[in-house]
Amino acid sequence: RSPKLERYRQVHDLAAKAFNHILMNTDAGVQALHYLLSRGISRTTMANFQLGYAPPSGRAMMSFLQQKGFSAEDLIACGLAVDLGGELVDRFRGRVIIPIADRRGQIVAFGARALDDDAKPKYLNSPEYELFHKGRMLFNIHRARKAIRRERRALLLEGYMDVLAVAQAGIESAVATLGTSLTEEQAQLLKADCDKVVIAYDGDEAGRKATVRAIDVLEQAGLTPVVLRLPDGMDPDEYIRAHGARAFERMLSESTWTAVQFLIEDMRARAEWVSPAGRTEFLRQVLRLLAERASPVEQEYQLRNLSQEFNLSVETLKEEMRAFAKPLR
Ligand code: CTP
Ligand code: MN
Ligand code: MN
Ligand code: MN
Ligand code: MN
Repeated sequence: RSPKLERYRQVHDLAAKAFNHILMNTDAGVQALHYLLSRGISRTTMANFQLGYAPPSGRAMMSFLQQKGFSAEDLIACGLAVDLGGELVDRFRGRVIIPIADRRGQIVAFGARALDDDAKPKYLNSPEYELFHKGRMLFNIHRARKAIRRERRALLLEGYMDVLAVAQAGIESAVATLGTSLTEEQAQLLKADCDKVVIAYDGDEAGRKATVRAIDVLEQAGLTPVVLRLPDGMDPDEYIRAHGARAFERMLSESTWTAVQFLIEDMRARAEWVSPAGRTEFLRQVLRLLAERASPVEQEYQLRNLSQEFNLSVETLKEEMRAFAKPLR
């Protein structure tokens, strides 16, 4: 093990403890504490996730870490300090701190949310460096792993707050991609522990587009994706705040969609219904989708639906579908 990387791990561990202490036990953290409580995050969840607060003053954390023996060079290299026109300052100032750990639970980075919704950026994250590559990690994977393995199922979310809310609701198998599109490496991380992944991204255009991509990546990795479609404009955190944990659980067990169902609805939403050509194009897209990635049962089921919707025989639809040969994966 490299001594340098070991120092990066140690400094993150120490900084996380200090940020957490400031949030939970000091006057400097009161405003952030109230911010989190007002978002429905309990003190227990704050403690479990070791949430913290970085005060707005520019150099407190740096000085503390330097006193503990870490060099300015190390702090810059792992992103805790930044060079601001020749002056060294803390990267995280006036933000709620969310520790990000690797698969073994070692904290290697931070996500940091502004208390003000209009602040830009809303989240500031550690930069990528030797121990932190966004595309290779999943937020909360080290806590969720046991449950994922037990249930053979993972819940894939967009954001930090979604994971916190879902965990607080008693669902332990949630991880998040932190706003970037799912990578093959992340799919492989999940593949090690489960077969099925429930995608519950935000109920907005960005979330739906990301869902289409995630379905692809998960299927390529040999996993079975299913989709939990949230009401327009809501993410899991907002849904749980509005309707409660039980309602979210119910949705999870009763109203998930297969990948094929989700993709058909997505095509439907984008189709040009007004023209006959647009309707035919939609039909062809669906038939191609069914040919390429639906099981025989799902093909049959969807063909029956289409037959009713378009007033065409199942035989005709089947014939047209067969024109799209199933490509080898
Ligand atoms: N994200 C980020 N930087 C930003 C915006 C988003 O890193 N400037 C990442 C964060 O990990 C965030 C995720 O993308 O959790 C999803 O973004 P979004 O849905 O906009 O944020 P929420 O998680 O819903 O955050 P909040 O509820 O605090 O507004
Ligand atoms: Mn990278
Ligand atoms: Mn979003
Ligand atoms: Mn949110
Ligand atoms: Mn969101």
